Amino acid sequence: MVGGGLSKLGLFKERDSKDFMVEAFTEMLGSVDKGIDPKEIEAVYIGNFSNDLFVGKTHWGPIISDLLGHVPKPVTRTEGACAASALAFREGVFAIASGFYDIVLVGGLEQMSKCSTEQIAEVLGTAGSPYEVAVGFTFPGVFGTIATAYFAKYGASREDLFNVTIKSHNNAPLNPKAQFPLSIRDFMKARIERCKQKGGPIPNWKDEKEYLRDVSVNPPVSWPMHLFDCCPVSDGASCLLLVAEDIAKRFTDVPIRVAGIGQGSGYSLHASKDLTSFEATKYAAREAYDMSGFKPENIQFAEVHDCFSIAEIIHLEDLGFFKPGEGYKATGEGLTRLDGPKPINTSGGLKSKGHPVGATGTAQLYEVWLQLRGKAGQRQIPNRNLRVGGAHNLGGTGGTCTFTILERRH
Ligand code: COA
Repeated sequence: MVGGGLSKLGLFKERDSKDFMVEAFTEMLGSVDKGIDPKEIEAVYIGNFSNDLFVGKTHWGPIISDLLGHVPKPVTRTEGACAASALAFREGVFAIASGFYDIVLVGGLEQMSKCSTEQIAEVLGTAGSPYEVAVGFTFPGVFGTIATAYFAKYGASREDLFNVTIKSHNNAPLNPKAQFPLSIRDFMKARIERCKQKGGPIPNWKDEKEYLRDVSVNPPVSWPMHLFDCCPVSDGASCLLLVAEDIAKRFTDVPIRVAGIGQGSGYSLHASKDLTSFEATKYAAREAYDMSGFKPENIQFAEVHDCFSIAEIIHLEDLGFFKPGEGYKATGEGLTRLDGPKPINTSGGLKSKGHPVGATGTAQLYEVWLQLRGKAGQRQIPNRNLRVGGAHNLGGTGGTCTFTILERRH
């Protein structure tokens, strides 16, 4: 990896999906230390879940190719629900590894804001299995079910999930691209200000957990998933420049190596043996660890697919960072904080940075790339010789999962 870009994430109803990709692509061009002539890009792989339904336009490959001045060279769209752009990344890696291309652009985009929350829930729901869709599946419902199963199995509770939310929201203000660049304390202050302006009673929360317990500010969506357990609806795009290892030094003295890639597929929930673990993640992790030779303890930090607070806990366990049933305890002890021994979701994660689904896979890899190059600004992981980081992306109810390990060697 020699370049990367990410648009500002948020709700931009008046803008077009193409605008987000222009923003990401422009940043990517400027990020290549020794420069790149875009005409050198031989192929583009672009992940998109469902702009088909979100904005009523399909076939985004050629639109992006035209936008980037890439016509008539090839462009391929990948689809894997929320893991759509992690699949674009894999295709790019395979294209280079096979020797077919030397320089490829991979990325993803999504625009969700043009739809109502109800329409979005319905479109996202189509990523479940046919059995799940038939019984009224929604994402908050599924992860509510998973959280309930996890609580029953390991004795965790909603209070434990608050630690995930508080941590994500502590990282997000350090990320200028984040949709919610606000800590929970910032939300508390804003709410108090609003109450003062309205002349109503002033809330007196003692701390962040008391705020999160208050259903007037953190209402249930699908118990035990409340508003602050859920990622938001988002728009955005991301892209990365991949080149063959033997020409990487033409572009930068600090290329970031793809050390391991893994992808797995999973059962739908009704057929899953265990609701507290994703088989596809475990398979993807095994592949990536085997390919790279790294073990979970070698992964110094990671971005994981925290679409809901409980999901982050489960991924920490499935990726082998902590034992089953220990992820929530480790989070409570602060081990996954920015200054902890295993920082997780330094970007703010999907919860606070945002989750424009088709753009998320490459947005996660962009964060790992920044951290490994020491370019993550205020959220740079402190005092660490960073060498190895991971990115985990999940699509559907775990139907498609990827794990990618990036390495800095120089
Ligand atoms: N966390 C914190 N605050 C949030 C939020 C979130 N995830 N989502 C919205 N808000 C805030 C808004 O900023 C707004 O605040 P304001 O009143 O101060 O302006 C308020 O909550 C209401 O926003 P709105 O968009 O009307 O919320 P909603 O109730 O329609 O939708 C969810 C909230 C959580 C249901 C919706 O964001 C959702 O469906 N998220 C999950 C998306 C998903 O499943 N993605 C795929 C996962 S793999």
